[in-house]
Amino acid sequence: MVTGHFYGFSRTVFASHFSGEETRVIPNLLQIVHNWESGPYHQKLLENAGVTHDVLRDAAGAFVFEVIAKHGDWAPRLCNKDPLTFEHLPFLREIFPRARFVLMIRDGRAIVHSIISRKVPVVGFDWRKTVDCLKAWNKMIEKMYKDCKCLGPDVCLPVRYETLILRPEGELRRITAFLGESWSDNLLYHEKFVGSEIRLHPLEFSTSQVKKALNDDALHSWRIFYSDDVLSQMDTAAPMLRTLGYNTTTSDPSYKSMSEL
Ligand SMILES: *[C@@H]1O[C@H](CO)[C@@H](O)[C@H](O)[C@H]1NC(C)=O
Repeated sequence: MVTGHFYGFSRTVFASHFSGEETRVIPNLLQIVHNWESGPYHQKLLENAGVTHDVLRDAAGAFVFEVIAKHGDWAPRLCNKDPLTFEHLPFLREIFPRARFVLMIRDGRAIVHSIISRKVPVVGFDWRKTVDCLKAWNKMIEKMYKDCKCLGPDVCLPVRYETLILRPEGELRRITAFLGESWSDNLLYHEKFVGSEIRLHPLEFSTSQVKKALNDDALHSWRIFYSDDVLSQMDTAAPMLRTLGYNTTTSDPSYKSMSEL
């Protein structure tokens, strides 16, 4: 099992599962539906036309399901990883009332460093503006974390990327228990399955990382990235770092014994 550079569902190595590449169109569609429904004027227009929230939910659900089910081989349980879908977590829960959600949380300083240094295109992140990127991460994760907590521990599990990397077996056992899945040692050696059971998209930004064995190279790669000026603004730009338990007094924090979220 592997994580992207970000958060969201993880690809899993279960014969009975299919996850596969990021679809891109799913978060896009969810955003479009969200736009249609935002603002009382638009909502009223739709309501008057009989296009109620329930109609949109069912239509969006059909679209999302078809894409997840048909962009790869059929499997009894389906899994999807498109990080930005979590901006619509309550709506996803409405669409899939029996689904389980895994929210991947990672030190925002590492995420912003990854996005800027690798020029990963993410909506709302301008690579030239470091502090704005930290603010954008903060805004995004604040809502996702709150929404995840709202769904409760039986429905949404926040997982720390750093803990997953440093204590993979313990974390993976926690995740499989949460999902109601049996344990497989294969989860610890995902790299052996890349190209066969695990399909990766050559153009996906996380592919170069995901195909490697579990490693902690990325944990501290942001250590010398930020200027003193940016470091001094860290707590105001990204207060969620502290909320989530990240040590903002140092550029070389230990991630070893962090609490569960
Ligand atoms: C934060 O990191 C610094 C430097 O490593 C360390 O001295 C301090 O104890 C850490 N703070 C917390 C709350 O862990």
